[in-house]
Amino acid sequence: MIHIDWKNLPFGYIKTDYNIRCYYKNGQWGELEIFGSDKVTLHMAATCLHYGQEVFEGMKAFRGKDEKIRIFRCIDNARRMQQSGDYIRMATPPVELFTEAVMQTIRLNERFLPPYESGASLYIRPLLIGIGPTVGVKPAEEYLFLVFVTPVGPYFKTGFKPVNVMISRNRDRAAPLGTGHVKVGGNYAASLLAAEEAQRAGYSTALYLDAKEKKYIDECGPANFFAVRDNTYITPDSQSILPSITNDSLVLLAKDLGIKVERRQVEVSELESFEEAGECGTAAVITPIGKIFDPENNRIYDYGTEAGPVSSRLYHLLRAIQYGDEPDTHNWITIVDPFPRP
Ligand code: PLP
Ligand code: COI
Repeated sequence: MIHIDWKNLPFGYIKTDYNIRCYYKNGQWGELEIFGSDKVTLHMAATCLHYGQEVFEGMKAFRGKDEKIRIFRCIDNARRMQQSGDYIRMATPPVELFTEAVMQTIRLNERFLPPYESGASLYIRPLLIGIGPTVGVKPAEEYLFLVFVTPVGPYFKTGFKPVNVMISRNRDRAAPLGTGHVKVGGNYAASLLAAEEAQRAGYSTALYLDAKEKKYIDECGPANFFAVRDNTYITPDSQSILPSITNDSLVLLAKDLGIKVERRQVEVSELESFEEAGECGTAAVITPIGKIFDPENNRIYDYGTEAGPVSSRLYHLLRAIQYGDEPDTHNWITIVDPFPRP
C-alpha cells in the first residue's frame, strides 16, 4: 500500500514503480523496455547536454467514478512531440510507439493513479533526448524516448482560485522565428529568470509579450493566455507561443456552449476592457488570473478574487469530460485497459 495524501498533492515529482524507455539506433526504434530506476546514464558528449536536443510533452490520466482510467488527447501530444523533435532535427517516435509507451507506463504504475474524489491526476511526462555523442554542432544519431508518470495536484497551490501575474517587460521567452511554437527544453530555461523576477515581486508567474513590438500578449508562464469579454473567448494568435492542446479544447467547448471565439493578436491595451482573464494548459488546467501588473506604468488590471462565469463553465466542463462525468463528444479520451503487473 502506498500512503499518499491525494487531496494535498503538490505539482511535483514522486517516484513511481516503473518508466518505459525506447532507444533509436542505426536509423530505427528498438523495443519498449521497462525500467525501475529513475536514473539515466548519458555519454558526456550527448547532444541533449551540449546543444539542447531535448523535447518533452505533458499529459494527464484521470481515474473516473467508474474506476476507468482516461487519458486526454494522447494522439495530439504524440503529434506535437513529432513536430517539436523535427524542428530541432531529432528522430521522433511514431504515434503508435508514443501511445503504447504512455499506456504501458500508466498500467505499470496504476497504484499511483489518484482516486476520483481527490480531484488529483497522474501527470505523464514523455521525454525525447539526443544521446549520441557529437562535438560539432549537429544532430545526434542516437535518441532515447522515455515516459514517466507522477501523481500531481494543481500546478498553482491555489487550484481554481485566481493567481496574480506580472508582465515581463525586459525579457522574452521566445523569438518570432525561433522555437516558441515547439516544446523544447530551451524555452523553459529561457523563462526561468523572468518567472523568478515575477515571483520576487510577489506574482505567481510572468506574462510574456511579443518580442518585436511589446504590443501584443503572447503566453503566461508555461500556459496559454485567454480572456473573456462580451460572451467571447479571446486568445492570442502568435508565432512564438506553444499551440496548447488545452486551449484548443477550450475553444471547441466554448463554441459548443454558444460562446463566441476569437483567436487573434491581443493588444496589451485591451487588458482594461476584459471581464475575465486566465491561463490554460495541461498542468494549469484553467487557472483564473486575478490581477495583471504592468511594471512599465505600474498599472494593475483587476479581474476579481473569484473565477468569472465563463472560465468556471469551461473549467467544470473540461474536467467533467476528463474524469468521464460528461460525454466525450469530441473523441478526446482514450481508455487505458488494465493489465496484470509483472
Ligand atoms: N504554453 C507553454 C509554454 C507550455 O509549456 C504549455 C504546457 O504544455 C502550454 C502552453 C499548454 O499546452 P497544453 O495545453 O498542450 O498542455
Ligand atoms: C504542461 O502543462 O504539461 C507543461 O508542460 C507545463 C509545465 C509544467 C512545464
